[in-house]
Amino acid sequence: MNHYYSLLLGVLFLVFSQVKCTGYLEVSFKSDFNLKSVLNVSSANNSNSRLVPFLVSPNKTETLSRIPIDFNETVIITVFVINQDRLDIDNATITSTFIPRRGLLSPLTVMYPFTGIKINIGCDPQYYGDQCNVFCCSETASRVGKECNSLGQLGCPVGKKGLDCKQSISKKWCKCKNKGSCISSFGKNLHERIQCSCPVGFTGIHCEREVPSVEMMSVYGVDPKKFEIGTAKMLYESVVDNEMVEVTRPHSSHLLHNLKINDA
Ligand SMILES: *[C@@H]1O[C@H](CO)[C@@H](O)[C@H](O)[C@H]1NC(C)=O
Ligand SMILES: *[C@@H]1O[C@H](CO)[C@@H](O)[C@H](O)[C@H]1NC(C)=O
Ligand SMILES: *[C@@H]1O[C@H](CO)[C@@H](O)[C@H](O)[C@H]1NC(C)=O
Ligand SMILES: *[C@@H]1O[C@H](CO)[C@@H](O)[C@H](O)[C@H]1NC(C)=O
Ligand SMILES: *[C@@H]1O[C@H](CO)[C@@H](O)[C@H](O)[C@H]1NC(C)=O
Repeated sequence: MNHYYSLLLGVLFLVFSQVKCTGYLEVSFKSDFNLKSVLNVSSANNSNSRLVPFLVSPNKTETLSRIPIDFNETVIITVFVINQDRLDIDNATITSTFIPRRGLLSPLTVMYPFTGIKINIGCDPQYYGDQCNVFCCSETASRVGKECNSLGQLGCPVGKKGLDCKQSISKKWCKCKNKGSCISSFGKNLHERIQCSCPVGFTGIHCEREVPSVEMMSVYGVDPKKFEIGTAKMLYESVVDNEMVEVTRPHSSHLLHNLKINDA
């Protein structure tokens, strides 16, 4: 192939991947078993899907990082798991459908064969906002003595305000809930606004809204010839608090209605 042509293709690819993939998905798993798995990431109305094979060993965190996602599409993730340590329930299919937004969306409870699942959606460098669609160039910002704040706007370091970023911000000015912090943002004509920067798990102008965690549903492949009543008990008791949740939220009950045993 012509060298120039392939170079051009490479550049075009870079340009388009910059435009299209402004955010990514990161998923981590933990289990008490040795598992062979495949993660399938797809979207509701796009036939492309991405398959990521992975192995899990007991008590070790396995992280699949930087899987590109499209914020305009509902994401469907399916984890197909083969448990190499058990013969009666040797496989499981765990699915979840969610609308992507930046932050930690880990489910509150997890089920056999996992003890922890972490779901994190991050933005590529220089992209900000719930949908990673706000661009802020840190070089440009530093040229005017500012930095890109968590909202993707020109601002001062946390806690500071003023054109020279030397004055302190009082917490009273922005009335942020849920431990949000007050930050300064400069719009057009260097007009300054004091706004809330929300901690992980919260959003809204005053950080008043909770970002919902995802829900997951499991279907188990059960060999009826080897199935014992003790196995059923183990499955029901295996719905546990997700040990990898980083945002503590109140939750009333385990999602037992999401448990299905496929013994057909
Ligand atoms: C997402 O949708 C918005 C408007 O609906 C559009 O402006 C934007 O280009 C879309 N982004 C992608 C990556 O398709
Ligand atoms: C991945 O998931 C999508 C949507 O659920 C599905 O249509 C597709 O067949 C799956 N791919 C594989 C290889 O299982
Ligand atoms: C995907 O489907 C939803 C409704 O199901 C629609 O609102 C959205 O525009 C679709 N996105 C694309 C990129 O076709
Ligand atoms: C995993 O850790 C738990 C508690 O930390 C321990 O009880 C268990 O024996 C460990 N399992 C393996 C296979 O190391
Ligand atoms: C899952 O397990 C069931 C029961 O043991 C079995 O019939 C089925 O073939 C397994 N599926 C796969 C893809 O291995």
